[in-house]
Amino acid sequence: MSQIATRILGIESSCDETAAAVVENGERILSSVVASQFDIHRKYGGVVPELASREHLRQIVPVVREALEQAHIAYQDVAAIAVTQGPGLVGSLLVGLTYGKSLAWALGKPLIAVHHLEGHVHAVVLEEKQKHPGAMIAFPAMTLVVSGGHTVLYFVEREPPAGHEDAAYFSYQKIAQTQDDAAGEAYDKVAKILALGYPGGPVIDRLSEFGDPNKVAFTRAVIKRAAPPDGSGRSQYDFSFSGIKTAVLRYVRTHGLEAEAEERRRMSAGKPAQNSLEITGKESLAGKPDVERLRALSSQHTLDLVASFQKCVVDDLVMRTLDAAEQYDTRTVLVSGGVAANRLLRASFEQECRIRGLRVYFPSRHLSTDNAAMIAAAAYPKFLAGTFADIELNADASLPLG
Ligand code: KG4
Ligand code: ZN
Repeated sequence: MSQIATRILGIESSCDETAAAVVENGERILSSVVASQFDIHRKYGGVVPELASREHLRQIVPVVREALEQAHIAYQDVAAIAVTQGPGLVGSLLVGLTYGKSLAWALGKPLIAVHHLEGHVHAVVLEEKQKHPGAMIAFPAMTLVVSGGHTVLYFVEREPPAGHEDAAYFSYQKIAQTQDDAAGEAYDKVAKILALGYPGGPVIDRLSEFGDPNKVAFTRAVIKRAAPPDGSGRSQYDFSFSGIKTAVLRYVRTHGLEAEAEERRRMSAGKPAQNSLEITGKESLAGKPDVERLRALSSQHTLDLVASFQKCVVDDLVMRTLDAAEQYDTRTVLVSGGVAANRLLRASFEQECRIRGLRVYFPSRHLSTDNAAMIAAAAYPKFLAGTFADIELNADASLPLG
């Protein structure tokens, strides 16, 4: 008996990307549209919440329409509408959530609430299903979600109920989180200190190629290790990235790199926009930093600093995740979220997992950063289970998971 196609419309607006996607049976992306707001926030070096919600309001209707058009389906053809409920910026979340609720009500379709980080976990599984249809990653998995807003480790188990043995039902146990800044936030703040533009991750990723990662002696000690469990609620695997950001700032001041940063800032002011609508399968300009120009404006000293910062952060993410994987006896490691697009992070995870005999999986770049395909995919098992939200659903900026 052939399976009836269940097409879920996913909507994501938790931070600075307005995204909509249609995913069939939780495993086939029919469309995925992302409108980024980099240009709007670039001059502030970070997301400005009020501007983000205003831009979501402008983008939400055309982005959803575009997702349906690309999927070649009409509004009535969707089986359900999935929205990100949280965590995130409340004003941003409310735009996608309210629009999704209205659409579900007007169309008479079920509404499904999705946790943003659950979406990032499903991005890895979805990627694997795109590449190897029918294959299923072996669980349990130690899962690192590392982005601009989050750095969290989850122990993820697959627990499909009877009758749905193949479906991606997961349970989540939080193992560790950041005590202060998220790793992506550290990338963005270091890029702001050095006037390398926003978001900082993609540009630091590319510029690091030209620097010596061992030149500036940031040891992992700059990233404080939390004390072992002592009743304070901290985990020995917790992360901390505010120390390294401060160490970079201090280094810039004590080594006379401020004037050079100021010059880059001056030269970048008024630079034309580079983004912004990203569509699956097409190269986007978003996240493609002006590397050659920035490289020409950077001394070798700055390039070495950037590469050393990146190596320190990447080593810490990899080692802490893999130590936790061994401690919890998981043979599988999943890495997701915007920072998972980082090339050194991927190479380091791959190399270290090979040595330790673990399997590691990442989403493609499009599925690593915020998108709505991951929200629609995460909603599919909830659809099968009949876990629907009602019209009272509200956004929750600090929604817990596990
Ligand atoms: O998942 P995401 O799109 O949004 C959040 O939920 O935060 O992640 C965005 C974050 C930003 O901090 C950005 O600088 C970082 O991901 N990022 C990267 C790379 N691409 C994006 N960080 C390091 N290397 C990259 N290639
Ligand atoms: Zn995210």
